[in-house]
Amino acid sequence: MKIVVLAGGTSSERAVSIVTGTKVCEALREKGHLAVLVDVFAGLEGDGWRNLFSTDDQLEEAVSYIESWNDKIQEMSKTRREFFGPHVLDICKGADMVFLALHGANGEDGKIQAALDLFGIRYTGTGAIGSGMAMDKGITKQIFAAGGIPMPKGIILWRGEGSRRLEDHGMELPVVVKPCSGGSSIGVSIAWDQAAYEKALEEAFAWEDKIIVEDHIEGREFSVGVIDGEALPVIEIAPLKGFYDYRNKYEPGSAVETCPADLPEEKVREMQGYAKMGHRLLTLEAYSRLDFMMGADGQIYCLEANTLPGMTPTSLLPQEAAALGIDFPGLCEKLIQVSIKKYEKDARRRA
Ligand SMILES: Nc1ncnc2c1ncn2[C@@H]1O[C@H](COP(=O)(O)OP(=O)(O)O)[C@@H](O)[C@H]1O
Ligand SMILES: [Mg+2]
Repeated sequence: MKIVVLAGGTSSERAVSIVTGTKVCEALREKGHLAVLVDVFAGLEGDGWRNLFSTDDQLEEAVSYIESWNDKIQEMSKTRREFFGPHVLDICKGADMVFLALHGANGEDGKIQAALDLFGIRYTGTGAIGSGMAMDKGITKQIFAAGGIPMPKGIILWRGEGSRRLEDHGMELPVVVKPCSGGSSIGVSIAWDQAAYEKALEEAFAWEDKIIVEDHIEGREFSVGVIDGEALPVIEIAPLKGFYDYRNKYEPGSAVETCPADLPEEKVREMQGYAKMGHRLLTLEAYSRLDFMMGADGQIYCLEANTLPGMTPTSLLPQEAAALGIDFPGLCEKLIQVSIKKYEKDARRRA
């Protein structure tokens, strides 16, 4: 298959996305696909895109080209009107499938998905609406509450509106404050006292106008992948220091990750059940990964759903697949196959 791996972009998770994209591209090549790596924002100048799929050393070249954009991308994104880089859509139109290795805004939030849908370009993972709903932790909270998935008690705050006083909302410290549509724990803080709470609000509002404040759950942290409607083994994440913040997520050795998690069978089934339910409630497709906490009393809480979870070989979802005996290239192949199913279903409906 001709596959374009779309990575990079302008979100705060650009760096992670480039790693995901490079590893996925390598793996898909190993599986015999004609896979190419393209930065969704940088694109490709000139005419080279026309025979991109027949260039053998595309990957190394692509990575250095993409990285050469790292320093200027934020500045450029402020002035350039079109998000898609030169020839990105042309390249995607010539492929059988686009593997979305993007994370965060303009990647995981449904906008790319909507654009690709309208161009008739096939891509991996969830469609536009599901991506948009899962990206917003406030909307996720409301849908999960209505559907019976336990979440930490919390509120949505808008910049400049309503009271920020916890007692006005029947809440108390400690709380976790996070931007509604962030990822990779960027802008997330745990506030143990009033001064820290004020600072946490400022930090989250620096990223977005809509934020959430929720009860801090003291306990263990887990994540559960869902592929094709089925839950993967539960993984436990235990940071050596602090919570699962940006550093602990990406610095090797800073968290102990155990899969399958050491949990009673009934807790595993309960968490996997919520993961599958959450995936369905948000209309997610092909694959996703849901994050959980478990309080000291054994109560399970869902934190959020990720529609384009990290996909480096040491990321959580690949570790869960490995526990089932699926290696990284095998997982990348599987994600392509389950994503194709979406389009086969559409075709049957139209027939
Ligand atoms: N209510 C909570 N109680 C305890 N820890 C939390 C809570 N919410 C978030 N965290 C911590 O912050 C991290 C990031 O939060 P999460 O909601 O998963 O957002 P994202 O991963 O999109 O940045 C979690 O992995 C967890 O370590
Ligand atoms: Mg998370």
